[in-house]
Amino acid sequence: MRRVVVTGLGAITPLGVGVRPTWRRLLAGDSGVVSLLASTHAHQEEEPTSRSSNNKWRDLTSTVAGLVPQGSAAQHGWDAADWLDATDRRRMSKFAQYAVAAAEMALADAGWKPTAMSDLEATGVCLGSGIGNLEDFYDTSVTYEKDGYKKVSPLFVPKILINMAAGHVAMRYGFRGPNHSATTACTTGAHSVGDASRFIAFGDADVMVAGGAESCIHPLTFAGFGRSRSLSTAYNHDPPSGCRPFDKDRGGFVVAEGAAVMVLEELEHAKARGAHILAELRGYGCSGDAHHMTAPLEDGSGALLAMKRALKNASIKPSQVDYINAHATGTNVGDAAEAAAIRSLMIGEDGVDDEAKVTVSSTKGAVGHLLGAAGSIEALFAVMAIAENALPPTLNLQSPNVGAGFNFVPLQAQEKEVKVAMSNSFGFGGTNASLVFSELE
Ligand SMILES: *[C@@H]1O[C@H](CO)[C@@H](O)[C@H](O)[C@H]1NC(C)=O
Ligand SMILES: *[C@@H]1O[C@H](CO)[C@@H](O)[C@H](O)[C@H]1NC(C)=O
Ligand SMILES: *[C@@H]1O[C@H](CO)[C@@H](O)[C@H](O)[C@H]1NC(C)=O
Repeated sequence: MRRVVVTGLGAITPLGVGVRPTWRRLLAGDSGVVSLLASTHAHQEEEPTSRSSNNKWRDLTSTVAGLVPQGSAAQHGWDAADWLDATDRRRMSKFAQYAVAAAEMALADAGWKPTAMSDLEATGVCLGSGIGNLEDFYDTSVTYEKDGYKKVSPLFVPKILINMAAGHVAMRYGFRGPNHSATTACTTGAHSVGDASRFIAFGDADVMVAGGAESCIHPLTFAGFGRSRSLSTAYNHDPPSGCRPFDKDRGGFVVAEGAAVMVLEELEHAKARGAHILAELRGYGCSGDAHHMTAPLEDGSGALLAMKRALKNASIKPSQVDYINAHATGTNVGDAAEAAAIRSLMIGEDGVDDEAKVTVSSTKGAVGHLLGAAGSIEALFAVMAIAENALPPTLNLQSPNVGAGFNFVPLQAQEKEVKVAMSNSFGFGGTNASLVFSELE
């Protein structure tokens, strides 16, 4: 059997550019959720169309978001010029820029810079996005309506294709293995990592660059999710309190941007080159609810099936799971369904006898919901929990009203020996996936 391990990580999140700064601030209990009304000024020069001159922000019901901090590399901020030349900055939309930068970090972390053709052919890319480049869709539609055919940019199509992030990473490094993109709403990042592991297990590649990226910080995003009543609206005056997974005062999710990428590698391949192995990807399970466009099955049975399949694939019992990074976005129905699913999985046969042993946190309280990148950043946090024996906290969890008795790691990080960690992702359309990571045995 070909086993799959994680040998490199890269991340750009509302807590900073880089895995270390993000993880450090996450454990410290910092929040990356800020007000869009305040930050629009900061972005004025750089992005005249999307974040600023557009005064539509003010009419929106939710004006908080997890924004990648702008600034210099020394301050762990984002400056596209640190990662891309002027041509690439012009032809790549922001989600693709984030993906390319996160892939560069992950490859550097893995120490994988192949030049031989056989190595390049054995390396693939699996990078997706949920929404992709909404801004160009919007601006181009407006321009086309107003000024007609000749004003449509020849870069329009390359900038909106979801798989272009994977394409750019492949082109940059010459990777000729499988070149693939999932787009399954909020499950995108998890499907990308899971599907990539299957490419390796089935022998299509030895190394895969896998993850998700998202940047749809545009008023239309907030209008759309606002109209579907999905967003947190009660904390516009106090952004860091906006996302409250499992808390009784939760009221919706907080949109966020960023990217997370991991280098996955076949175990013997990693050992042969002396790579540093962070964790093993032991299992992957998927399910569909076949129920409703946006609402989960209330008993969480869709989520339960995904978790069960991932554990079966990993040959791991529920009682062996030390930490679950929940999907929990801070919506009423979604968090309740997931807590119910976790209870069905963890309590009873092959599980534990005591709720307090069920350890679950949602890192969305700190970073918000990175949509198509959520599954990969949360998988990355699960890997970090194993590598560092630390549990990231659930911010804003003052009084849970679901999952009674669980250890939700409220407000503050905890130390714990983590041998097995699971990461859940559920998406609109009823698509669910779970990933199981473990220490390398
Ligand atoms: C990967 O896909 C993109 C198109 O999305 C393409 O431009 C790129 O050349 C592909 N890479 C390889 C190595 O086939
Ligand atoms: C699977 O994904 C989504 C998001 O919550 C949802 O639409 C679907 O029904 C989920 N299933 C659950 C949580 O049981
Ligand atoms: C788990 O999935 C992998 C493919 O990723 C496969 O090779 C392996 O046989 C599966 N294991 C079990 C126990 O189902």
